[in-house]
Amino acid sequence: MKRNGWMSCSAILTVTAIVCAQQPAENKPPAVALKEYRIDRSITADARECIDCHAKDSPGIVADWSDSRHAHANITCLDCHTAGPADADVSQSHFQYDKTPVSTIVSPRDCSRCHPAEAAEYSRSKHANTLAIMWKIDLWMNKGANNAVERVTGCYHCHGSTVKINNGVFDPDTWPNVGVGRQNPDGSLGSCSSCHTRHKFSIAESRKPEACGQCHLGPDHPQIEIYEESKHGAIYHAEGDSWKWTSAPGAWTAGVDYRTPSCSVCHMSAVRDIPGTHDVTERLAWETQAPLTVRPADFAAFPAKTDHKAERAKMEKVCLACHSAAWTKGHFDHLDKAVANYNEVYYKPIKAVVDLLYDKTLLSKDQPFDEEIEIEMYEFWHHEGRRARFGAAMMAPDYAWWHGFYELKKRGMMIEHMADELVESGKPAKRFNLKGTGGETTPPPGIQK
Ligand code: HEC
Ligand code: HEC
Ligand code: HEC
Ligand code: HEC
Ligand code: HEC
Ligand code: HEC
Ligand code: HEC
Ligand code: HEC
Repeated sequence: MKRNGWMSCSAILTVTAIVCAQQPAENKPPAVALKEYRIDRSITADARECIDCHAKDSPGIVADWSDSRHAHANITCLDCHTAGPADADVSQSHFQYDKTPVSTIVSPRDCSRCHPAEAAEYSRSKHANTLAIMWKIDLWMNKGANNAVERVTGCYHCHGSTVKINNGVFDPDTWPNVGVGRQNPDGSLGSCSSCHTRHKFSIAESRKPEACGQCHLGPDHPQIEIYEESKHGAIYHAEGDSWKWTSAPGAWTAGVDYRTPSCSVCHMSAVRDIPGTHDVTERLAWETQAPLTVRPADFAAFPAKTDHKAERAKMEKVCLACHSAAWTKGHFDHLDKAVANYNEVYYKPIKAVVDLLYDKTLLSKDQPFDEEIEIEMYEFWHHEGRRARFGAAMMAPDYAWWHGFYELKKRGMMIEHMADELVESGKPAKRFNLKGTGGETTPPPGIQK
């Protein structure tokens, strides 16, 4: 958390010497061989101390760093980890090794000193703001329907949570934590290493679908499975090894460097005259994760400042790098019809059935997950309803139909059947004792509901 770094960084960048080279040690089996690092004189003595000692103490970290673009540009440990003496996250225990105050956390604000555009785009994205979104709309959180350990090992690993640190010692309930929307001690939101893992901070890694698939998977948001099933994913698996993943942003070219798009190509990378972005809401025309599909500007919890027609046009331009206009138009026509089909044929009528049960007090409103129909309704929109829409959006027919619309038909009938039985009996639905409740129901400071 160094505050005056940009100047010293620019000064360092004018030095063109090679920072460090790796030389395999002789006469040792490769798996355990310790590498030697030749540190160039252009690195300050302070910065060299970190590298010298950590090369022995944590060789994995120094090896990754020395492989990175940062090392090649003379960006050292110090540029990212030095802290102001008053920062809450200064590691006290580290003073036994070195006089320079260091902090473990390197927040988006720290990266923003050198990457202001990426940090600004990221800070307005749904990724960075997900804690506020969760506290606005999520019933697990607001109703305390799960407990702290379930949140720490589940939700917070993907979404992030508030990092608590006292005198350089982390609260273990809040660390490790590289969720996309973690709240840092300096007030900034998010973690850049969600997609660019330390200490390579590689652009190639973030461009591959695996970087996204660690969170975008499973029954409720199976984007990686959907991608694997699409022709794009099949071709990526067949020949992606030989594609060029390291080209500079803006110079990474459809048809030249890659033959089919990864998540990053469609959602983030610069493609032809569409600029790259770290705000993943760009290029979207729908909120296909919401119970009722709406336009991003109409998503009440976090209204986008985008115009859905302009964003759709951007997404279409990505396709046009490799497809004809008719192919592209046909695809989006199918998507928009699938959205209407889900909203009108499935979600609205089944929601009306369940709402009637609440009106008749056959279902109770105080605990959202303790009656069978409530769980059925939840999976109806949150699992199958999303899969039908995501499958249609991202070219995965098995998800659109077998994991999607087929399941909506089946579960929709079950919900209607159970509702009929309740109405006939006139008795309130059986309430189960929901296990594992009791999580905090007020948001952390700084997060508005
Ligand atoms: C003389 C050896 C030595 C020097 C010099 C040194 N470190 Fe460390 N550092 C360590 C050891 C040992 C640890 C503890 C590792 C552990 O917890 O297992 C550590 C931990 C860290 C951590 C994690 C913080 C924590 O509280 O666990 C960071 C970040 C770090 N060092 C960065 C730096 C930076 C930046 C420099 C240069 C300003 C530096 N180190 C200089 C030995 C050193
Ligand atoms: C480009 C910025 C950057 C540079 C350069 C950098 N680090 Fe880090 N380092 C990070 C980030 C980000 C994390 C993860 C912490 C977080 O999530 O905020 C981290 C984590 C660490 C940790 C804690 C790891 C753990 O698993 O507990 C240590 C130790 C560390 N760095 C040491 C070093 C050393 C030594 C160097 C130089 C060889 C270095 N770092 C260079 C950004 C950087
Ligand atoms: C002191 C300035 C500085 C800081 C702080 C810094 N970077 Fe960088 N970063 C650079 C420079 C300079 C380059 C370009 C290196 C080159 O390609 O020559 C770069 C390149 C990158 C790249 C592209 C790597 C590639 O494979 O092409 C990524 C990703 C990146 N940085 C992420 C981060 C993240 C994340 C942080 C914070 C954890 C961070 N940087 C902190 C200066 C910095
Ligand atoms: C495996 C990672 C992962 C876990 C675990 C996880 N989520 Fe998510 N969550 C996601 C992703 C990815 C999305 C984005 C879905 C989409 O837009 O397709 C999401 C979406 C959401 C949304 C919808 C946000 C919106 O904009 O509509 C809420 C609310 C939410 N999650 C809350 C939670 C809660 C609460 C938990 C724990 C009970 C949890 N999530 C567990 C990854 C995860
Ligand atoms: C959701 C995943 C994700 C997160 C989180 C993320 N990035 Fe990136 N980043 C990417 C992808 C994908 C690319 C490659 C885009 C392209 O192809 O041009 C990239 C490229 C970059 C580059 C190279 C672009 C350039 O102009 O040199 C930098 C620098 C960078 N990111 C910094 C950051 C910083 C700083 C943060 C945190 C504020 C961050 N990233 C967070 C996915 C991510
Ligand atoms: C560490 C977990 C994580 C990683 C890695 C991650 N995401 Fe996400 N992503 C989320 C969560 C959580 C949400 C839901 C945020 C919300 O709506 O509250 C989300 C939402 C999204 C959305 C929906 C945005 C909107 O406006 O509805 C898109 C698109 C997206 N991510 C794309 C990506 C791409 C592309 C990558 C990889 C380059 C990626 N994500 C990597 C966790 C992650
Ligand atoms: C061929 C381009 C393409 C690829 C590849 C792709 N997507 Fe998508 N994605 C789309 C389109 C198109 C939509 C729907 C856009 C709209 O709203 O009109 C979408 C929707 C989404 C959504 C739902 C956003 C919302 O809020 O409705 C998420 C999340 C997402 N994609 C993440 C990913 C991830 C993660 C990957 C990789 C595993 C990926 N996408 C691969 C084109 C793509
Ligand atoms: C980098 C080039 C590239 C981009 C960008 C691209 N595609 Fe493709 N796409 C391909 C290739 C190659 C195929 C395989 C064609 C074949 O079947 O011979 C393909 C196949 C498809 C298929 C056929 C799926 C099937 O199961 O038959 C659809 C639909 C499709 N793409 C839609 C899109 C849409 C929509 C976009 C933009 C959101 C897009 N593509 C972006 C290269 C691309």
